[in-house]
Formats: sequence, structure tokens, C-alpha cells
Amino acid sequence: LIPRKALPWGGDPAADAVADLLASRRGTYLSGESLSRRLKVSRSAIWKAVGRLKREGYGIAASPHLGYRLDTEPDAPLPRLIRRGLKARLVGAEVHSFHRIASTNDHALALARAGCPDGTVVVADAQWGGRGRMGRRWHSPPGSGLWVSVVLRPRLSASGTQALTFLGAVAAAHAVRALHRLRVSLKWPNDIYLADRKMGGVLTEVSAEADLIQYAVIGVGLNVNVAAKAFPEELREIATSVSAQVGDEVARLPLLRRLLEEIDARYASLQRHGAGPLVDEARTLTPMIGRIIRVQHLSQAREGTVVGLDTDGALLLRSAAGTVERLLAGDVSILR
Ligand code: BTN
Repeated sequence: LIPRKALPWGGDPAADAVADLLASRRGTYLSGESLSRRLKVSRSAIWKAVGRLKREGYGIAASPHLGYRLDTEPDAPLPRLIRRGLKARLVGAEVHSFHRIASTNDHALALARAGCPDGTVVVADAQWGGRGRMGRRWHSPPGSGLWVSVVLRPRLSASGTQALTFLGAVAAAHAVRALHRLRVSLKWPNDIYLADRKMGGVLTEVSAEADLIQYAVIGVGLNVNVAAKAFPEELREIATSVSAQVGDEVARLPLLRRLLEEIDARYASLQRHGAGPLVDEARTLTPMIGRIIRVQHLSQAREGTVVGLDTDGALLLRSAAGTVERLLAGDVSILR
């Protein structure tokens, strides 16, 4: 059970400075005195910063005579670790990280409303109120997933929302493919699939005025190291994680950095060329084209053959009678 009290993570300048200095001399001792001299803070401030780093999961040896030595860094989404080596222009320039929070999408929406910069990232190690599509719960246990939301301010009309979901899903698929050589695919409208099971999903929420998007939050949930038995009963047969497919624990930080870089690059392309290239990419990752499916949306169900994706990402479905319909939302089951 995740305690229902938001707990921010990182963002302490003294701890950042101590972490960077120790990391630059990893495996060797730096005396408290030299740290305090170089950072121009008191010895007790250094001691406090080290305590904070240890609570964040850093392995730091402390010796009364020798000082402090960094042995290991945590594989945790701390801002200073995310930003190290991040090759992104905009996405991640501002990072809000939480040990736990209700939902990164909720927090990102609040930041967006308050005017945060384009590309602001909200990430958490655990969520107790993680949200999925259609008001569903999103299981977000600690230490084992990437639960991340990105605030974007795209020049798009509200009908571009599906393209933004593709942006998140295509970026996630490419990140996992690049780092783990796994065949990731997409299931319209927002699922990320691995080996016929759901490995992640995207929840896009927008605020629009006069049909123009004011801001969008793209929330990506990726089961990275979620153990098969850690999924709730009802998901056990249909969910998977990267580690389950790789057969070993997987580092989350490199995957998170790559995900943010893939989002950053596609966002730049979206602003320049519009949604077309994104929908093209989504199409090549969507194997259900040609299959016979059932789409359930609210109380309506439709069956037909998937013709493809329309230019805005709507699903084109041909019914038995031969008419082609454009679907904007729904849950898909593949029949044949
Ligand atoms: C789905 O498949 O229904 C979408 C799941 C989206 C989950 C992510 S986790 C990060 C972000 N915060 C949330 O509360 N939801 C999204």
C-alpha cells in the first residue's frame, strides 16, 4: 500500500552539489572539510546532504577520518540523475520528481494551468491514484515502473489529441526497442504491447479553447520491472513488463532518458511538420491493420475489418456491409 501523502524527491541544491562532486570522484574518499570548502557550505550542511542522498538510495560510505565515498547511485527518477547526459532540447529542462504522488498527470495538469514551461516533466517512483483511460485505475507500484507525464504546448487543434497519444506511444516503443531490442507494437488507441500483452499505456489530457489546444499532458506508464505476480489478479493474464520479456531486471533511468529524448525529437517534428509523420510512424507500429476486431465504446459495439488509420489517427473500420467508419475512441478486441 502506498501512503497517501505526496513526497517530492530531489531538487535540493546542496544535495545536488554533493552528489555531483562525489560522483566526479566515484570510489574515492573526499573529506568533509574539502567538500565544505569547495561547496562553500558548513560541514553540518554536507552531513545533512549526505543523509538525504542515502535516503534517496545512494550508496555512500562515511568514515570519520577519510570523509565520504560514493559507491552506487540509485536507479531512481531523481531530477539530477535524469538530466545527466539527457540529449533533449526542451523536454526535461524542468523536472518535478516525486517519491510518491497520487498521479503525475494530475500534477502536470496543475503545473500546466499555472503556466509551467513547455516540456516540463513530472515523474514519480510510485502513484497511489494512477489513472488510465476511461476512468480506469493504473497500477503504479514503487521501484518498478516509469510513471511520467510531459506538459506540451503544441500548435494543434483539439482533433490532434490522438496524434499526441501516438507521440507518447511511438516514443515509448522506440525507446524500448532501441535499448532492449524487443519488438514493441501499438494497439489503437493508446496501448503499448510486447509479446501480445499490454506493457504500457498513454493517457493524454488536453485543455482547449476555441478548438485550439492550450496545453496537453501526455502521461506514459511503462511496466519496466513489475513482476508477473505483482500485477493485480485481473491483469495477470493480459499484462507484461520489459523485465518479464528480457528475463532480468532492467535499468529504469536509461529508459526514461531515452523516452524523454524520443518525445523531444517527435515534438520538434510535430511543431514543424504537423501530425502526419507521427501518424505514419504509429501506422508502421500497428499490426492490427487487416484484422477483424470488435470496438466497444460506452454502450456501443462495432465489428469490422481494420482498414487503417486516418490522417488524424482515427481508426478506419470496414463493416460487413462494406461501409467504412471513422472511430475516435473505444476498446478493441481482436477477433481474427
Ligand atoms: C491506459 O492504458 O489506460 C493509460 C495508462 C496511463 C498511465 C500513466 S502513468 C503516468 C501518468 N499518470 C497517470 O495517472 N496516468 C499516466
